[in-house]
Amino acid sequence: MAIPKALTIAGSDSGGGAGVQADLKTFAAFGVYGCCVITAVTAQNTQGVSAIETVSPAMVRKQLESVLSDIRPEAMKTGMLANADIIQAIASSLRAAPRIPLVLDPVMRSKSGAALLSPDAVAALKELLIPLADLVTPNVPEAEALTGTGLSSDEDFEAAARQLHAMGARAVLLKGGHRPRVPADRDTAPGEVIDLLYDGQEFHPIRGRWVNTPHTHGTGCTLASAIAAGLAQGLELYPAVVKARAYLAKALEAAFAIGHGIGPVHHFHAWWAPRD
Ligand SMILES: Nc1ncnc2c1ncn2[C@@H]1O[C@H](COP(=O)(O)OP(=O)(O)OP(=O)(O)O)[C@@H](O)[C@H]1O
Ligand SMILES: [Mg+2]
Repeated sequence: MAIPKALTIAGSDSGGGAGVQADLKTFAAFGVYGCCVITAVTAQNTQGVSAIETVSPAMVRKQLESVLSDIRPEAMKTGMLANADIIQAIASSLRAAPRIPLVLDPVMRSKSGAALLSPDAVAALKELLIPLADLVTPNVPEAEALTGTGLSSDEDFEAAARQLHAMGARAVLLKGGHRPRVPADRDTAPGEVIDLLYDGQEFHPIRGRWVNTPHTHGTGCTLASAIAAGLAQGLELYPAVVKARAYLAKALEAAFAIGHGIGPVHHFHAWWAPRD
């Protein structure tokens, strides 16, 4: 029996809630075999990032070539890429290999605010990797940095999605987690979070219920990995995004405290519940 396989190219989160750790958990929850190329090691917990050591571009390239020449994933995603030299190494390895669907999560900062991409690497991301992406998944600040414009209205969202598509991405998912539509009385009134999918032809707003939890560590990593897992399983892009959003919504509803800060989403909510 063939097992679908997916690759994550991202940083390690020692706290286990985001980065490569979240990606591999997500792949496993989908029944997809996961492999990983590590770009950086972060000393991190639920409260913040205290140190970052990047992996050499040559070692990133070696990891990538090892995986691509043998395991051959059906889909891949990128997360924290750290700097322009690593982006360059990844782009040149990918261009030399058979094409694999790529979900590019243009990670720039951790939830706690630490810089995960050097500012001079934004140009390399735009020039070298966005043109290789089947889907790019910026949050609002990332879309603002990539397009150089502020986003507040629905029209701004649509214009930014068009701009990102024009940079060469086949599709864009502009995430709405930083711009929830939550009424003032957020404890009792239901709110909404809307991600905007643009495939170069049509806009598909993907609506979800706002989950009022402090434990949102790794939402972006989990979403991009869940989409890549769906693509590895053979889904088209739109159903893969819808399935990923449904999975993430349940993972947020079941999110739990670990440590003293922002806890992780519950990747294995379908299997077990945290005990009191
Ligand atoms: N509280 C919430 N309730 C429901 N959905 C949420 C919530 N927070 C985020 N999401 C969803 O999670 C996904 C990630 O969105 P977000 O904008 O938070 O990404 P991000 O900033 O890249 O996350 P991260 O900080 O983990 O990198 C999106 O699909 C968004 O709609
Ligand atoms: Mg993110």
